[in-house]
Amino acid sequence: MSRSLPCHIYSFWVLLPFWILYTTSTNKCTVRHEIADCSHLKLTQIPDDLPANITVLNLTHNQLRRLPPANFTIYSQLTTLDGGFNTISKLEPELCQSLPLLEILNLQHNELSQLSDKTFIFCMNLIELHLMSNSIQKIQNNPFKNLKNLIKLDLSHNGLSSTKLGTQLQLENLQELLLANNKISALKREELDFLGNSSLKRLELSSNQIQEFSPGCFHAIGKLFGLSLNNVKLSPSLTEKLCLELSNTSIENLSLSNIQLYKTSNTTFFGLKQTNLSMLDLSHNSLSVIGNDSFAWLPHLKYFFLEYNNIERLSSRSLYGLSNVKYLNLRRSFTKQSISLASLPKIEDFSFQWLKSLEYLNMEDNNFPGKRNTFTGLIKLKSLSLSNSFSSLRTLTNETFISLADSPLLILNLTKNKISKIESGAFSWLGHLKVLDLGLNEIGQELTGQEWRGLKNIVEVYLSYNRYLELTTDSFALVPSLQQLMLRRVALRNMDCSPSPFHPLFNLTILDLSNNNIANINDELLKGLEKLQILDLQHNNLARLWKHANPGGPVQFLKGLSHLHILNLESNGFDEIPADAFRDLSELKSIDLGLNNLNILPPSVFDNQVSLKSLSLQKNLITSVKKTVFGPAFQKLSNLDMRFNPFDCTCESIAWFVSWINSTHTNISELSSHYLCNTPPQYHGLPVILFDTSPCKDSAPFELFFMITASMLLIFIFIILLIHFEGWRISFYWNVSVHRVLGFKEIDKQPEQFEYAAYIIHAYKDRDWVWEHAPMEEKDETLRFCLEERDFEAGALELEAIVNSIKRSRKIIFVITQHLLKDPLCKRFKVHHAVQQAIEQNLDSIILIFLEEIPDYKLNHALCLRRGMFKSHCILNWPVQKERINAFHHKLQVALGSRNSVH
Ligand SMILES: *[C@@H]1O[C@H](CO)[C@@H](O)[C@H](O)[C@H]1NC(C)=O
Ligand SMILES: *[C@@H]1O[C@H](CO)[C@@H](O)[C@H](O)[C@H]1NC(C)=O
Ligand SMILES: *[C@@H]1O[C@H](CO)[C@@H](O)[C@H](O)[C@H]1NC(C)=O
Ligand SMILES: *[C@@H]1O[C@H](CO)[C@@H](O)[C@H](O)[C@H]1NC(C)=O
Ligand SMILES: *[C@@H]1O[C@H](CO)[C@@H](O)[C@H](O)[C@H]1NC(C)=O
Ligand SMILES: *[C@@H]1O[C@H](CO)[C@@H](O)[C@H](O)[C@H]1NC(C)=O
Ligand SMILES: *[C@@H]1O[C@H](CO)[C@@H](O)[C@H](O)[C@H]1NC(C)=O
Ligand SMILES: *[C@@H]1O[C@H](CO)[C@@H](O)[C@H](O)[C@H]1NC(C)=O
Repeated sequence: MSRSLPCHIYSFWVLLPFWILYTTSTNKCTVRHEIADCSHLKLTQIPDDLPANITVLNLTHNQLRRLPPANFTIYSQLTTLDGGFNTISKLEPELCQSLPLLEILNLQHNELSQLSDKTFIFCMNLIELHLMSNSIQKIQNNPFKNLKNLIKLDLSHNGLSSTKLGTQLQLENLQELLLANNKISALKREELDFLGNSSLKRLELSSNQIQEFSPGCFHAIGKLFGLSLNNVKLSPSLTEKLCLELSNTSIENLSLSNIQLYKTSNTTFFGLKQTNLSMLDLSHNSLSVIGNDSFAWLPHLKYFFLEYNNIERLSSRSLYGLSNVKYLNLRRSFTKQSISLASLPKIEDFSFQWLKSLEYLNMEDNNFPGKRNTFTGLIKLKSLSLSNSFSSLRTLTNETFISLADSPLLILNLTKNKISKIESGAFSWLGHLKVLDLGLNEIGQELTGQEWRGLKNIVEVYLSYNRYLELTTDSFALVPSLQQLMLRRVALRNMDCSPSPFHPLFNLTILDLSNNNIANINDELLKGLEKLQILDLQHNNLARLWKHANPGGPVQFLKGLSHLHILNLESNGFDEIPADAFRDLSELKSIDLGLNNLNILPPSVFDNQVSLKSLSLQKNLITSVKKTVFGPAFQKLSNLDMRFNPFDCTCESIAWFVSWINSTHTNISELSSHYLCNTPPQYHGLPVILFDTSPCKDSAPFELFFMITASMLLIFIFIILLIHFEGWRISFYWNVSVHRVLGFKEIDKQPEQFEYAAYIIHAYKDRDWVWEHAPMEEKDETLRFCLEERDFEAGALELEAIVNSIKRSRKIIFVITQHLLKDPLCKRFKVHHAVQQAIEQNLDSIILIFLEEIPDYKLNHALCLRRGMFKSHCILNWPVQKERINAFHHKLQVALGSRNSVH
């Protein structure tokens, strides 16, 4: 009857077993490279479907109560099992049997309280065992006895009251034993002698309540190199006891931070005389009095930490004997206000004279009264930090650092000292100095360049965050070795001086001029800085320099920076970029143009930025992202930031960008939340990536089609217009060309081959003018004109005669008047023959003489002639003024004399 079962019930019964299977066996562990991470999954059971070949299994932060050995047999390759942060209260010895290769077992933050002799009996390969933060209060017998390979054992944060972890020698390979934060109150020889064969690099006993070091307690340990007793209230007397117990041990590193060691004397560290102690940490001790010769017993000390104390003063013998110290930290070591000793210097002269090996000295955050002759004798000092060290070091004079004259100082940090003036030669003692940090002070002055006198090897100068700096051409003239110069937020003045203040710095690689509100610079500012790699110009006011309308054109201040890698131009108000602004920057990797007002970028502005890795244009007014502009810049980009621009989501503006985003590996963060369409209205507020580019792709062939038809139409219209207005010219020259090509060679007869110099065509009514003027021209010529009325029988004008005469004339002269235009014979016959001859022979052979003004269209209409057909010297106008008649004759002679050829 299953057919009658309602469908949903049917499917419930079918799917139930799968559902059970699903909940029992699937897990959300991530497995990568044989490492399974099952942390933070609220697991109550060990996942049983992980690959059998995993070597690391992370089960931290779950709800496991047990680690049943059987459930691990499938993971026999495990070398690391992390079961931290669960509620495991019992461990079965067979676990290690299931995991024979286990090297690291972490069970921190669980509820283990009992460890028996058997617990780790099979864990022979264990190297690290972490049992921190359990509830182990007592170790009975020898649970760790079989851990012959154990290197690190962490039992901190338990309730142990004793260091005793066994009754017999064991843990011979142990290097680190961590017992911090227990309840150990005494170190006793017999409670440590299970370590008799061990060499401990680190015995961590911090944060216990140790009040007793019984005789020989440290000698019970095979070898002890490092001991930490931080946060144990030892006080001076117990410290002295401790040191006596440490005498003749191998101790090298001793941490005694925050042990209430408020004073030291010449006996405190006496016990360490016979040791090789190389590191001593006495920080956070409220140490106020350092007795003379306190450290005289520590000739091997190299690293000495004294930060965060309350030292009232250093006398000339306070540091006596520390001849090997390389590193000394005195950060916030001295009292802020010493009332009783206000008049005395906190550091006596020559206090540091014993530190012949000191290379690094940190004196930050102290409150010294001012310049002192303090540092004499530090003949190896390389790095000195005096940041926030002085309460009243207003002016750096040529004597402030005189005590450092013998130090090969490389780094000097003077930040946060309220320095207001650097005098000439202040650093002249520091010829080795490479790095000088003067940032975060109150310097306000003109930099003449003398401030840097003597800094022959300087490489980095930090001047950022000061009151104001007025630059001059010579500001950096004495430090041409400079490679990094930081001038952020220093209210730079006189930036447009010429030559530029930076002109001597041809090795400069980093220049920070940001946050200066710079508005006026010239194109010389960065000239010659060919090695510059990083240029920071953000938060200035450079917009005007790139405006088209800037008087003298845009200022190309980036010209020639051919090795620039990083350029920051954020927040400058730019609304225009000249097309060639970045032309020289072919190695640019990163450019930041964010927070400007850029809308339309010129095409090819990024053409030379083909190796760009990072481009920021966030918070501009960019509407369209086109290939012509961004194509080159996007090629190798790994990071793009164009958030918060008002994108115009049309095919035209954005289609290319959207399909580029779809195919690129470039990192574009917040793509779906901060790249939104602004226009058109129907897309407003929509993420750009949701823009559908498919209609745009269809329009591409259409666009092409449109372009082709449109241009064909235009060409057609052009041809029509051309034929309409210039058709006569075309057909005329076509005729000429055809005749030439078909072999009507130019007939360049010699003058003697012609009978007449010219055949004159005129209207009958103009014969008076012709008769009056033609003979004048003939006078000095051997050839005569052919005049119809004179040279033909009167009234017997035979057409054949006309044709022959025209042929026998070298030139044909038209005397053009209104009458000629109306003369029927002229109109048809003569003009036709004349033009025919002209075409066959040459265009020069026709001369037009206008006796009156005739517009070209009338001429064309009546005679089918146009001025444009003839050379200009063949077109003559009969002058109205008498005095020009001579000139007319001259011109006519020229026209008659010209050869019949086209030159
Ligand atoms: C161990 O495996 C058994 C059988 O596969 C299972 O019933 C049990 O819940 C598992 N225990 C743990 C803690 O995962
Ligand atoms: C571990 O097992 C997985 C499948 O369970 C396999 O893909 C992987 O290659 C194996 N790794 C090694 C090192 O054998
Ligand atoms: C296990 O995961 C936790 C939290 O994700 C992490 O802190 C711990 O280092 C991991 N353990 C190992 C052995 O990788
Ligand atoms: C320690 O200093 C005292 C004087 O303060 C002196 O009498 C004593 O000899 C010094 N002890 C050592 C070991 O130098
Ligand atoms: C420091 O400069 C002053 C003049 O300003 C000069 O008299 C003095 O000799 C200079 N001191 C040194 C050590 O150069
Ligand atoms: C100078 O010291 C300050 C404060 O410690 C630090 O922030 C700065 O980086 C240091 N300057 C240099 C150049 O190391
Ligand atoms: C500039 O750098 C070059 C090459 O590193 C070096 O040889 C030259 O000495 C430097 N110039 C100055 C003035 O330090
Ligand atoms: C993105 O690319 C995939 C395949 O590469 C394609 O199927 C999809 O249509 C593309 N989406 C857009 C908006 O171009």
